[in-house]
Amino acid sequence: MKNPSSNQLPLFPSQNSILSDSPYVNVQGDIPIDLPQGSFISVHREPALKLYSIGFQPAKSIPEIPRWFLSKYGTRSFTVLEPFAGSGTTIIEALKYGASIYWLDYHPLSRLICRVKTMQVEPEEVRRETSRIISNGLKREGVPQTIAFANKDFWFQKPVQDALEVIRCEIRNAEQSTQSLLWLAFASTVRKTSDMNDSMILAAKRSQIADTPHYSRGDVFHYFESYVQKILDALIERDHSLKDALKNSKELLIPDARNLFGEWQCDAVITSPPYINAIDYVWASKFELHWLGYVQDDHDRLCLYEKEIGTERIAKHAYEKLGRTGVDSLDQLIEDVFTGKIYKATPGQNALRARVVYQYFVDMQAHFKSSARHVRSGGYYCFSIGEKSRICGVEIPVAEIMAGLAGRAGFQPIFQFHVLLKNRRLNVPRNVGWAGTIKHDTVIVLQKAT
Ligand SMILES: C[S@@+](CC[C@H](N)C(=O)[O-])C[C@H]1O[C@@H](n2cnc3c(N)ncnc32)[C@H](O)[C@@H]1O
Repeated sequence: MKNPSSNQLPLFPSQNSILSDSPYVNVQGDIPIDLPQGSFISVHREPALKLYSIGFQPAKSIPEIPRWFLSKYGTRSFTVLEPFAGSGTTIIEALKYGASIYWLDYHPLSRLICRVKTMQVEPEEVRRETSRIISNGLKREGVPQTIAFANKDFWFQKPVQDALEVIRCEIRNAEQSTQSLLWLAFASTVRKTSDMNDSMILAAKRSQIADTPHYSRGDVFHYFESYVQKILDALIERDHSLKDALKNSKELLIPDARNLFGEWQCDAVITSPPYINAIDYVWASKFELHWLGYVQDDHDRLCLYEKEIGTERIAKHAYEKLGRTGVDSLDQLIEDVFTGKIYKATPGQNALRARVVYQYFVDMQAHFKSSARHVRSGGYYCFSIGEKSRICGVEIPVAEIMAGLAGRAGFQPIFQFHVLLKNRRLNVPRNVGWAGTIKHDTVIVLQKAT
């Protein structure tokens, strides 16, 4: 194993002093492995594999970060764990590097995306099934109504509903080996042909009704076909370099990163955990969850929040009382949110926000402890996370607290740097006094004691 570099700067120097003394380091393409400790960088990205544009994930991380980690600390014999796989950025980078990867995500749509990105594909077979689905679908009359959820008619025009019902029925009859890919194309079709505003992460109608396009049944089939083609193109491009590596990816059948059960070991965790309160993944993917049959009804969908780290869907009885984590500095911040020391929000909101922060860090602590059981001695944990969040006016130094929690689980911080965020569509109110602007992702590398 390579030796990690020693600390040259304190891990959490004052950001202001760094910013005033040194501007962002501009990085073109890959992040250099000799990047100085504590740097603030702005990454100018080079064209990425088509694979990275496949699948809906509102908080995709940049592949340059896992790539940097692996070239600095990795060896080809590494086994990596990605416990918050999302759209699979770390998975692809680990395979490109030549390592093996175990991955999981609690969200069924993320799992589908990652399965498709790592599946073997026979393009001809997929094209054949797609043609069959479309020709059968166009002929078909008398469409069954199998999907029900609140406000379905508000979000989906009638011809769209009919076509989606037909396609999902036909996908179920398709060759098993093609189904994941077809379901992913279907998920993109659902999102595209809903009446939600295309540019939004969460379902919101267009402000002008007249801007809503009218879709025919044929349009829906057309979108489905073009999404199949887009995914196929990405997988064919992937196979030029990664076909043989796909066998090195393994999905762990573990539904929650807070409880990583089983007997297995890894050399490094490389991940970007959820942000506090920033993305409501369940709401953001509501339509796909219903149309793909991952949830049976609205209640079933709401149950998914129980596993979502960072969620703000917390029952009233759970947030009325102030929670304590046992970490004094963190508990003080939670109390400041709870009492409205800086900003008093509408009734109940301070207590709710305080609970969201409390629950987030308790969940991440459980995750770090659970991970530590599987990382071998001397192995690594590398994560990137929004550096800070402002909640009810209280600035929460998220990255720093996370490093502390990981430290309690047996990982010691050895390196960090900050990446300027660009074009990230996070669901956080920006530039308002009481809520946060996430300006940087902080990347932290920790090592487990030998
Ligand atoms: C910031 S995103 C990861 C994005 C990913 N790095 C990418 O580039 O696509 C965090 C992920 O954590 C997942 N997640 C949230 N709570 C989880 C839990 N309890 N167990 C496993 N995954 C969880 C979310 O579904 C989401 O996909």
